Amino acid sequence: MTLSRRSFLRTGGIGLAAVTFPLPSFAQQCGEPPRAAAAAGQVLLNGNENPYGPLPSVQAAMPQALAVANRYPDPKYDLLIDAIMKTHKVKRDQVHATCGSTEVLKMACDEFVMDGRGRLVVASPTFEAIFTYTEADRGSVVRVPLRSDLAHDLPGMLKAMGAGPGLFYICNPNNPTATLTPRAEIEDFLKRIPPNTYVLIDEAYHHFAVGAPGYESFIDFPVADERVFVARTFSKVYGMAGLRVGYAVGAPDTIKRLRNEELYDSVNCVAAHCAALSLAATAEMQAAVDRITRDRTAFFAECRRRRIQAIPSYANFAMIDCGRLAREVRASMRAQGIRIGRPFPPMDQWCRISFGTPDEMARFWKTWDGLKDCLGEIRET
Ligand SMILES: Cc1ncc(COP(=O)(O)O)c(C=O)c1O
Repeated sequence: MTLSRRSFLRTGGIGLAAVTFPLPSFAQQCGEPPRAAAAAGQVLLNGNENPYGPLPSVQAAMPQALAVANRYPDPKYDLLIDAIMKTHKVKRDQVHATCGSTEVLKMACDEFVMDGRGRLVVASPTFEAIFTYTEADRGSVVRVPLRSDLAHDLPGMLKAMGAGPGLFYICNPNNPTATLTPRAEIEDFLKRIPPNTYVLIDEAYHHFAVGAPGYESFIDFPVADERVFVARTFSKVYGMAGLRVGYAVGAPDTIKRLRNEELYDSVNCVAAHCAALSLAATAEMQAAVDRITRDRTAFFAECRRRRIQAIPSYANFAMIDCGRLAREVRASMRAQGIRIGRPFPPMDQWCRISFGTPDEMARFWKTWDGLKDCLGEIRET
């Protein structure tokens, strides 16, 4: 499908027929419990969200956006694109905003894997959306285990791609490990990719990695290779996971190809309005990063105190060794009102914990410490 709603309206939409196929939701496919089912008082450490909510000035401005909800979102969408252009110093044709960055991943799968009859090469473990969509469409996915230092094995990914065509997905920082793949290694890799391949760099957790040795965003410091494009989201530091906004930035021709898979008006007017305001609220965003960074430090102090092995984190979550099957710990925690991350095979004994507020983390640790009684001794290394 290659028409936007704007061009659809221009052409009159003659000859277009809507065909839909009911599929289980992405969360269902991943075995994740529906988040809406969380009872009041539950502690949600399973979604890598910002537990403090949207930025304060954005929360205050939400009602203004609701007032124009009777209209299609085009003016608010344009406002958001202007804000993204200003933030990243890019041109209009280099940006496409989406219903969460998951939509960028879906579009990339459709355009660069399925339409080109190519191959998707991903790390293992990594964020599942893109390969879940590809496999649901019976596309070809090759998983390449992370290296022992939990960076992407880029030479291994090159080998897995073969001669192409296809798409490499690089999640940096990586979900679920919260680890980084050094910029210099990615640059070296880009010099060696086959000509008919594209590279999607998912920077969902960028804000928590800024300043880390060896890390640099491919939006802020782009490479001269139009096959590289980047996904960002408002679901993490900006605290807008429920509003659903993300975007892609890349070369005009690459963004044009991505738009072939566009869903008309997928960004609603409230989300677009709030996302545009969020980008302008740089001091509040930095305060949110600083607060979550302090929560991260506190989390690792608690791990050290208990001699729990934890993977150093460059994101708003961390993986800890629970010394037994993570799904058992998760089920036990859930029964006590604490939701932690879903299992990420093959790291079956590692739990992914999103950082909550200090009160939520106090409840988490109390429950964790109590697990020894209901699960037997949890190994502490
Ligand atoms: C690495 C990564 N990319 C993309 C997403 C999807 O985010 P969004 O809420 O923008 O669809 C997530 C969500 O957790 C993620 O971890």
